[in-house]
Amino acid sequence: MEGTDWRNQTTITELVLLGFRELPDMRILLFLMFLVIYMATMAGNTLIVMLVVTDQHLHTPMYLFLGNLSYLEICYTSTFLPKLLASLLTGDRTISVSGCITQLYFSGSLAATECYLLAAMSYDRYLAICKPLHYSTLMSSRFCLQLAAGSWLNACLAIIIFVLFLSQLTFCGPNEIDHFYCDPIPLMELSCSDTHLSILVDFILVYVFTLPPFLLTLMSYVLILANILRIPSTTGRQKTFSTCSSHLTVVTIFYGTIIIVHILPKRDTIRGLKKVLSLCFTVLTPLVNPLIYSLRNKEVKEALSKAVSKCGFHKNMQRL
Ligand SMILES: *[C@@H]1O[C@H](CO)[C@@H](O)[C@H](O)[C@H]1NC(C)=O
Repeated sequence: MEGTDWRNQTTITELVLLGFRELPDMRILLFLMFLVIYMATMAGNTLIVMLVVTDQHLHTPMYLFLGNLSYLEICYTSTFLPKLLASLLTGDRTISVSGCITQLYFSGSLAATECYLLAAMSYDRYLAICKPLHYSTLMSSRFCLQLAAGSWLNACLAIIIFVLFLSQLTFCGPNEIDHFYCDPIPLMELSCSDTHLSILVDFILVYVFTLPPFLLTLMSYVLILANILRIPSTTGRQKTFSTCSSHLTVVTIFYGTIIIVHILPKRDTIRGLKKVLSLCFTVLTPLVNPLIYSLRNKEVKEALSKAVSKCGFHKNMQRL
């Protein structure tokens, strides 16, 4: 009896991320697919950051925020994709409890930062479209810096509270998480400690940290669209809309997938579907953001062609 009691009390230090166990034969194919996605995400976002940092024409609030967003996507995908790639390649799906909580900390705070950055970008578009005459005084470079710094700091600090709660939990029973990254709720479900408080804290944090930026974003766009509809000429309308359409697309994809994943019921039958959808907002959003911005944006395209021609010129110089 005592023996079993003692064994029940042993704490587990390793978890298993089941990942895509439904597709055991496709491990290498999945590995290659995620490798390509990861490299493309890194390349696209690094390019945007470099263009924004180096090109003087892109030193406006909108592009500085875009640079921050791309930098964030680089960090965000790096919190879980390398681990997923390694486990697909080696077949070793274990992760230590502390590794899991660390992953959760970084992906959580970066996701929260993204909500705030998207809100700051929408507010910037709102000022540019609805208050064009006061734009440069309202969105001063100092305010822009404060918004960007605030987004990063705020989210990093907030998730610390949650992680402190999580690190108190002990794990003794089953240790399998049916997901490809460390998700807070499945993680807490595995714990044998009392998780009521942690679940409550998670719930509160999710709402406190995603609802205000979401509402701010929504409000900005409602005001922007109302303003655009009031423009009499069609060309004027299109021209104004084009200054915020890339951002609106990114915001819609980001919040759209998050809302769908969280609205879907919890039970097992649609687990696979949920996994695919969370894949969309964790892996595809960072991949498509640079595409959306560079394909649809004249200024980014110009900066890119300038940079390319500069590089080409240097290469030709070297050859001479
Ligand atoms: C992020 O935003 C700040 C403030 O506007 C800016 O100074 C900085 O260069 C941006 N970072 C990147 C990587 O674009």
